[in-house]
Amino acid sequence: MGRPDCRGVPTSCDDSALIEALDRCHEDSLAFRGDPVAGIDAVLGDHPDFIMGHCFKAGILTQAMETRIYNDMLRSVEAAEALSPMANDRELGHIAALRTWVDGDFFGAVQCWEKVLVRYPFDLLALQLVHLTDVLLGDVVGQRDSVARVYAMWDESVPGYEYLLAFYAFGLEENRDFAHAEELGRRAIAMQPRHPYAFHAVAHVMEMKCRHAGGITFMNHHLDAWAESNLRNHLWWHLSLFHMDLGQFERVLDIYDHHLRGKDISGDRYEELDSAALLWRLKLLDVDLGERWSELAEKWQPSAEDTLYAFNDVHAMMAFVNDHRSRDAAEMLLNANERYVDHANDANVAMSRTIGLPFCRALQDFAEGKYGACVDRLLPVRYRTHRLGGSFAQRDIIGWTLLEAALRARRFDLALALANERAALKSTSPQNWKLVARAYKGLGDRARSEQAESRAQSLLAA
Ligand SMILES: [Fe+2]
Repeated sequence: MGRPDCRGVPTSCDDSALIEALDRCHEDSLAFRGDPVAGIDAVLGDHPDFIMGHCFKAGILTQAMETRIYNDMLRSVEAAEALSPMANDRELGHIAALRTWVDGDFFGAVQCWEKVLVRYPFDLLALQLVHLTDVLLGDVVGQRDSVARVYAMWDESVPGYEYLLAFYAFGLEENRDFAHAEELGRRAIAMQPRHPYAFHAVAHVMEMKCRHAGGITFMNHHLDAWAESNLRNHLWWHLSLFHMDLGQFERVLDIYDHHLRGKDISGDRYEELDSAALLWRLKLLDVDLGERWSELAEKWQPSAEDTLYAFNDVHAMMAFVNDHRSRDAAEMLLNANERYVDHANDANVAMSRTIGLPFCRALQDFAEGKYGACVDRLLPVRYRTHRLGGSFAQRDIIGWTLLEAALRARRFDLALALANERAALKSTSPQNWKLVARAYKGLGDRARSEQAESRAQSLLAA
């Protein structure tokens, strides 16, 4: 008949030891620790007919968004499909989601997992995959409401409640419900002090609210709880953003060099995303980066023609256009994407066509000093950037690049309009007021420029 997991969700597996092993691997993935895929591989090695084991492995692999793991993911999906006659309806729902994913319909896969979740509101794996995929795909409302659908049914008595809280906290934050997001994020940390995703949600709140000093204190105070986790790179990136807005560029470079700049080819795209995202921001601020771009570009070389995920491509492009030895890689990436949007029809095509490819070209323009062309590419798409996926904090790089390009192209009236937008959203950001000051200066309004600059300085002093 099959036994349920630790939350009472049914499986077709009769072996409680297997269910417990899967629960442990699942908890490792939720807590961003260890190697959950290796863990379930060890279980599946002895028990190749464990359907939820295959579904778990393939589900976790979907989140990597890397071509190099595709075949491994496909094998897991096929193994689960071969066992379909023994699967229960929940497992069949997961298998349908995974098949939809490997066939390239990421949005359809979310629909399948959502269907499972409606029937089984305590299926934390389905919820995790819906929420995290909504982040990958830039479905901002879904990040919050996928959790809201089941939130009222859960409480502290359900194992893993702290993970549900953190998912909800992040979804609320991305939908600008900052107070509620912080409350739930901190509740999750109180329940599970080593909970990187909860720290991540609170760090996002602090980023969006420009609480730099508080953010630095918060992240440093809890360093032991996240600095060894699998989310550490991204959390170091968040910490560096606080320092960056305060103009503490030496500290930012120190974080980059000690925590993001791996000496070896890591092969982990997620780490390299954070590295590229950090270096590009420093470039916009005219910080000398030495050899850092070349090292990073080398790491991105193998994925120049991946075209699996537009979000990866734009970050690869940042590295390529800043390394003179990688010009061929930049052209390969653009050509591969042009061919891809013309011929493929998977879910990433729309992401690439709408924002990925225009942003890649704009990055190349910017690096070549063609600032006017960069502006012209980004201006029409600036309110569609959520389709690239990721968070508001990550996608902010697009609007910032547009504004910096407008300043360098001496289109100061546009630059002022864009700087005003940024300052209205984050009125305590020193860097935003510096941008306002530069725009006024370009327009010849010295008084307003000095006013904005002194506002930046007073924020820095505070
Ligand atoms: Fe983040």
